[in-house]
Amino acid sequence: MANVTVIGAQWGDEGKGKIVDWLASRADAVVRFQGGHNAGHTLVVGEQVYKLSLLPSGIVTGTLSIIGNGVVLDPWHLKSEVEKLRGQGVEINSDNFAIADNCPLILPVHRELDGLREAAAGAGKIGTTGRGIGPAYEDKVGRRALRVCDLAHLDSMEPQLDRLCAHHDALRAGFGQPPIDREALLNELREIAPFVLQFAEPVWRRLNKVKKAGARILFEGAQGVLLDVDHGTYPFVTSSNTVSGTAASGSGLGPSATGFVLGIVKAYTTRVGSGPFPTELEDETGQRLGERGHEFGTVTGRKRRCGWFDAVLTRQSCAISGVTGIALTKLDVLDGFEKVKICTGYRLRGKVMDYYPSHAADQAAVEPIYEEMDGWQGTTAGARSWADLPAQAIKYIQRVQELIETPVALVSTSPEREDTILVRDPFAD
Ligand code: GDP
Ligand code: IMO
Ligand code: MG
Repeated sequence: MANVTVIGAQWGDEGKGKIVDWLASRADAVVRFQGGHNAGHTLVVGEQVYKLSLLPSGIVTGTLSIIGNGVVLDPWHLKSEVEKLRGQGVEINSDNFAIADNCPLILPVHRELDGLREAAAGAGKIGTTGRGIGPAYEDKVGRRALRVCDLAHLDSMEPQLDRLCAHHDALRAGFGQPPIDREALLNELREIAPFVLQFAEPVWRRLNKVKKAGARILFEGAQGVLLDVDHGTYPFVTSSNTVSGTAASGSGLGPSATGFVLGIVKAYTTRVGSGPFPTELEDETGQRLGERGHEFGTVTGRKRRCGWFDAVLTRQSCAISGVTGIALTKLDVLDGFEKVKICTGYRLRGKVMDYYPSHAADQAAVEPIYEEMDGWQGTTAGARSWADLPAQAIKYIQRVQELIETPVALVSTSPEREDTILVRDPFAD
């Protein structure tokens, strides 16, 4: 039996949380390997709605849930999310939940810096989630981060704090901000440390142990390939690698553990935050997609930008991330459209392109070339088998998989966990 790595193949919010939750009951462990609480994953199980940002979506089914070293962890957010979920009846303890003790911490100073930079950038802002993700990753690669394991050694932190403060105090002075209050920071960390440390361990050991015992591991990506810091629409990206390969480096299991790469693909396209978006619709059709798809951010509540399905971008994401098969989500949102369009190529200053160029100016300048198809009048909403789908909806799915050169493994037809069509079981591969 294979492991499965779930990644977003567009700009995030493809429905990863729903699919991970659906797959989690077949897995023995669910692992987050990058990102932080910039993610927003909504799970609908009967009457209950769970909104997760930092915790792996497997926690809801009680599956062993692990936060890997590739994640940046805000300890105060962790506590509030754990408490919120416990309030919804979800069991979270050190048997079913573990955090890598080598995870870098997101500190209040990171959140402040994120906000200060965005405010200073004005119209050129990235449109971040404001959660301090970028600054925390910068400190990680800058070798001045505080990590989860440091929380057990707060009385001997002076050299680390010196490095951290020297860097940040200079930046803060540039923004007219006072230096970091070291004593206040230490006190806050002392207060939160026991809560985090009860779950902290070298998770690579537990993961390797369960792997050897034949466990099926489900890796849960956050964001999407087009937000990847290398492959995405730079600089309008997040600060981590969101591609499937990160599952290995961000968890402490080798690349062979990645298994079946399941790309989550929305049947149309959305983006939240700034940056290029070739198929964006700023008209009634875009509004209709947003309304039908309830396209508002889970984390920030921001309205998501909407547009037609972009087969060029999705084909590129699938190639870059080695996607084995896709889960096509939110097909039901296209129900009732008389015509649907798919972007099959771009025109850049008169030249036809079959891929998305790297330069920001070219990315902003490409014009989509569309293929138009008839929509379907029947409904796909709530369909649980292929036979429930209108013939024209099947044609749309087939055209999508042909254009992106990747087969469909799952189709999702509503937010509800069970409204899912299994075409090819990723764990059986
Ligand atoms: P994620 O970040 O990839 O986990 O996606 P989000 O949870 O941020 O956004 C996806 C939204 O669409 C959530 O509100 C889901 O409940 C919802 N959703 C997921 N799959 C479907 C689907 O097939 N149809 C519809 N209508 N909604 C879906
Ligand atoms: P999930 O896991 C959609 C976007 C932000 C912004 C950019 C950088 O729910 O799919 P950051 O705070 O990461 O520095 O912001 O990335 N972004 C997301 N967009 N879904 C997400 O996560 C996102 N996480 C970050 O809107 O454009
Ligand atoms: Mg989301």
